[in-house]
Amino acid sequence: MELRLPSCTIRPWRAGDLESLLLHADNPRIAGNLRDVFPSPYTRADGEAWLAMSSVEARPTNFAIEVDGAAVGGIGLRLGDDVHRRTAEIGYWLGEAYWGRGIVTEAVGALTRWGIEHFDLVRVDAHVFAPNTGGARVLEKNGYVLEGRLRKRVEKRGEILDALVYAFVIED
Ligand SMILES: CC(C)(COP(=O)(O)OP(=O)(O)OC[C@H]1O[C@@H](n2cnc3c(N)ncnc32)[C@H](O)[C@@H]1OP(=O)(O)O)[C@@H](O)C(=O)NCCC(=O)NCCS
Repeated sequence: MELRLPSCTIRPWRAGDLESLLLHADNPRIAGNLRDVFPSPYTRADGEAWLAMSSVEARPTNFAIEVDGAAVGGIGLRLGDDVHRRTAEIGYWLGEAYWGRGIVTEAVGALTRWGIEHFDLVRVDAHVFAPNTGGARVLEKNGYVLEGRLRKRVEKRGEILDALVYAFVIED
């Protein structure tokens, strides 16, 4: 899998991405907007475990965002199962040095289209912590629609937050 876009390339993680991953992922401003499974501080052991896990996925759904030859962010789909089998949840982050260039907007649009086609999905959604304006904006710019606010759905760093549910649904 490789999606070449004007601002970045989406491609599988590789063992050689470790140093770049550690450089960009170890940032509380990133981890603060993600699930706790994305740790802060982000240690070498965390990076090694992530790359080892990504390389053995039966159906690869977690990818690096490459800019100027280096993996500087991540984007992935969490596939639903059972009655949720035609849906997926999208997640994404980018190294702070690259924020504000439209990179994730482009990546989210491309991975949404790829996921729908590749896995025969009818819906991709995302849960955004309510204060995360940038996280929501990249979805809105790609046609994701706000479906609701899940009140007090999240505890992050001891703070209780609402979650915003955004969805991209294919038209019948
Ligand atoms: C949120 C994040 C993915 C945005 O990536 P990015 O490549 O900088 O986003 P883009 O450059 O494509 O910007 C898209 C839009 O979001 C806006 N935006 C980005 N960051 C913002 C912020 N912190 N506050 C307000 N708006 C923001 C941009 O202005 C742009 O909107 P515009 O075109 O209307 O001006 C990145 O900041 C990040 O990795 N944050 C930490 C992890 C995270 O929040 N992940 C998402 C979890 S749901």
